Amino acid sequence: MVKICCIGAGYVGGPTMAVIALKCPDIEVVVVDIFEPRIIAWNSDHLPIYEPGLDDVVKQCRGKNLFFSKDVEKHVAEADIVFVSVNTPTKTQGLGAGKAADLTYWESAARMIADVSKTDKIVVEKSTVPVKTAEAIEKILTHNSKGINFQILSNPEFLAEGTAIKDLFNPDRVLIGGRETPEGQKAIHALKDVYAHWVPVEQIICTNLWSAELSKLAANAFLAQRISSVNAMSALCEATGADVSQVSHAIGKDTRIGSKFLNASVGFGGSCFQKDILNLVYICECNGLPEVASYWKQVIQVNEYQKTRFVNRVVSSMFNTISGKKIAILGFAFKKDTGDTRETPAIGVCRGLLGDKAMLSIYDPQVSQEQIQRDLSMQKSELDRPPHLQPASPTAIKQVTCVWDAYEAAKGAHGICILTEWDEFKTLDYQKIYDDMQKPAFVFDGRNVVDAEKLREIGFIVYSIGKPLDSWLKDMPAVA
Ligand code: NAD
Ligand code: UDX
Repeated sequence: MVKICCIGAGYVGGPTMAVIALKCPDIEVVVVDIFEPRIIAWNSDHLPIYEPGLDDVVKQCRGKNLFFSKDVEKHVAEADIVFVSVNTPTKTQGLGAGKAADLTYWESAARMIADVSKTDKIVVEKSTVPVKTAEAIEKILTHNSKGINFQILSNPEFLAEGTAIKDLFNPDRVLIGGRETPEGQKAIHALKDVYAHWVPVEQIICTNLWSAELSKLAANAFLAQRISSVNAMSALCEATGADVSQVSHAIGKDTRIGSKFLNASVGFGGSCFQKDILNLVYICECNGLPEVASYWKQVIQVNEYQKTRFVNRVVSSMFNTISGKKIAILGFAFKKDTGDTRETPAIGVCRGLLGDKAMLSIYDPQVSQEQIQRDLSMQKSELDRPPHLQPASPTAIKQVTCVWDAYEAAKGAHGICILTEWDEFKTLDYQKIYDDMQKPAFVFDGRNVVDAEKLREIGFIVYSIGKPLDSWLKDMPAVA
């Protein structure tokens, strides 16, 4: 029986390995992590991450050919294929701080693999890493190998949170990069055989190591660039009376452009886009390509601009002051169907509103009060650390309360900001909400989920990203 061990039981390691175990009953899969509470949760009825369909997959194979363990070294030593799916956050200190990927966790995993291995292994980069990382990893492994043969493969993951199981069951493609030597090609085939249990072989793309590593950064950069492009357009729509949904629809009909990923929003979030683009920018700079670096940097700058623009719109609409006013925040996760808040635009928006002394009442169906308080009070450098290195709970911010119901959040509020596109926000009883709010009552829809016309009939003043403005909003001073 082939044995797989995955180092890192996070958003990628957990679901990816669960699906491999489900689709490959002839393979034993063990997911290991140094953060014990996560392993305990994976072995319980309350998995550490919320992902539609995940519970079902785990239940079907846990204890049969899928195991979660904190015994990292034992399972790495026994494995034929070792996936490494640890954090690769942005460096916060030293050379390349604020841009380069921090490979500390990757390197320590690689050194541990070299230390404990007694048999030949295929080591698979599942984490997103800078192009050429495989070369560094190869050096660490071979210089410490005691005669053991390691083959390094790059197999970046393209799943999106909220649809991870669907994406893993039906990937657009699986990408495997390896050395162009006979041993490298043999390793590629071994990994291809794993995916071929359920992925049609023509969808398994095999490349050299560097193309695979760079393709992952390129894919995320292109996706994020689409959102910044449509968000930039949304600002122009508001200024001209055009409607960004109509513009997206019209341009998306061009098959060369395509209709997906053109929803204007309060900004993109998630653990990947910003970090991977910063990483790309750094690689470009290191390769003497400042013009290319500045092109990609702009994608992030527009994303920051979009969040600031949203906050400014809220403040200017409400007579230029939100000091002491209650504002309901509906949605805190970076997108619907996940409890993940890493780089969520809600952090920037809430901090902006708190900076203007608002009182926030926050509701998200999947994010805990503790997580929201951590996100709003901790430094980004602390939040980026793996869970076992994060500081204990910080002092709660008094201006922030967290509630478990959208109606409770909006009760007595002056305004509502919708920051995540949870389906339930489309069908709330907005008349009831309106009746319980201060007047004039505002809705700032950062995800274009509500029917603005219906809400206006009720009496709300509504701002929707990239849509023609209410006369109220038009009369307020222009926002930067
Ligand atoms: P995560 O923080 O959810 O999980 C990483 C896990 O690795 C943590 O539980 C941490 O405790 C563990 N870990 C760190 N060092 C370790 C070590 N030395 N030994 C054992 N365990 C260790 O991160 P994630 O979201 O799963 O992302 C992992 C990688 O996958 C990143 O490089 C990310 O860029 C990439 N990726 C993420 C996504 C996504 O949607 N989250 C999608 C594609 C790729
Ligand atoms: C992304 C990539 O899609 C995935 O392939 C990669 O493996 C990891 O990074 P993820 O961050 O989980 O996945 O979610 P995604 O659906 O890409 O959304 C990212 C952010 O963009 C979210 O905040 C989302 O709300 C926002 N978004 C997405 C928009 O604002 N508009 C869109 O049209 C699409």
